[in-house]
Amino acid sequence: MTQPHSLPRRQWLTQGAAILGTASTGLLLPQSALAQSGKIRVGLMLPYTGTFAQLGIAIENGFRMAINEQGGKLGGREIEWFKVDDESDPSKAIENANKLVQRDKVDVLVGTVHSGVQMGIHRVARESGVISLIPNAGVHMATRAQCAPNVFRTSFSNSQPTMALGETMVKRGHKKAVWITWKYAAGDEAFEGFRDSYTKAGGTIVKELGLPFPNVEFQALLTEIAALKPDAVACFFAGAGAAKFLRDYAAAGLKDKIPLYGSGFLTEGVLEAAGPAADGVLTTLHYGDGIETPRNKSFRLNYAKTFKMQPDVYAVQGYDTGLLLVQGANAVKGDVGQKAAMIKAMQTAVIDSPRGKWTMSKSHNPVQDIYLRQVSDKENKVIGIAAKALADSGAGCRM
Ligand code: PHB
Repeated sequence: MTQPHSLPRRQWLTQGAAILGTASTGLLLPQSALAQSGKIRVGLMLPYTGTFAQLGIAIENGFRMAINEQGGKLGGREIEWFKVDDESDPSKAIENANKLVQRDKVDVLVGTVHSGVQMGIHRVARESGVISLIPNAGVHMATRAQCAPNVFRTSFSNSQPTMALGETMVKRGHKKAVWITWKYAAGDEAFEGFRDSYTKAGGTIVKELGLPFPNVEFQALLTEIAALKPDAVACFFAGAGAAKFLRDYAAAGLKDKIPLYGSGFLTEGVLEAAGPAADGVLTTLHYGDGIETPRNKSFRLNYAKTFKMQPDVYAVQGYDTGLLLVQGANAVKGDVGQKAAMIKAMQTAVIDSPRGKWTMSKSHNPVQDIYLRQVSDKENKVIGIAAKALADSGAGCRM
């Protein structure tokens, strides 16, 4: 098929839809006739095993909750579900995405969590033109240089949460910091946001430490931090690895000596597992459990009732992915073959999220507030706004 990005956008949208319609059925029926004849095919490509397993589950829960609020339908049509466990393994990403796109012929692909896996999904999305909704992975290129009309992110770009972290730390008197993360796209790009905001505010980064994803052998690095004696530590970790980092940081005796800060994923979905080791930790993120709005309160109550667990940022992102898709599907009355109209509706959508209302940037990434949060009583309490209506730069995106 012609490279989508080499065609003008409008032309690609029409051609892409027509080619897909024929290729997937072997019939020369117009795509719209095909689209209305059966169920809408929704593919979930998420981690259900490994260090990000809980994140995948929370995203699916949130996504289903938004669809269930519509009677389990999209634009009035029934849904057929397809699922793939991507294991947060980038080496299997293209093959896994193609299981959904080529084999199952999904109309919409929802995924994923891990930035490296997202790169594979993104390639398949650009080549096939399938509607691709990113419910977590923040990899910059997806909404920067390689942005695409059919790709929307409902979560964040990797540097968005940390763009507000550095200044917060300097304001609180921490002038010398160590940064620590998993060494892959998400950690490296989270560092970019931290570095820019911390150095601009007058802070000095004395050392960058890292280990490969998903390793959790933190001991040698914690010993190095103790020897460096910075004013504070900032980090990016998530999922089960984050819970272990919090526990190991406290067990190494660092918690009361060197304040720990993070991109807010550090304390999402892990507060039971981390226990007192997470108490008092300050982070920045586009959500907080304690957002005092009726919207957030009713979301939290319904989620807890339905799934017998507390929601976190991943559940919110999954829910918002559902809200976005509902708006897109409603705009075409379930005829998801009308891709251009569906895309237009999603570009202009206002998402009434538990995190607060947000809109899509030109490059299809949320423009959103970033909250300052502190852990107390097993909750990420909101203690301030770290950045208002923050947009990713979208650098290099031409749409
Ligand atoms: C990512 O790989 O993009 C990623 C994973 C987990 C998070 C945030 C970002 O919590």
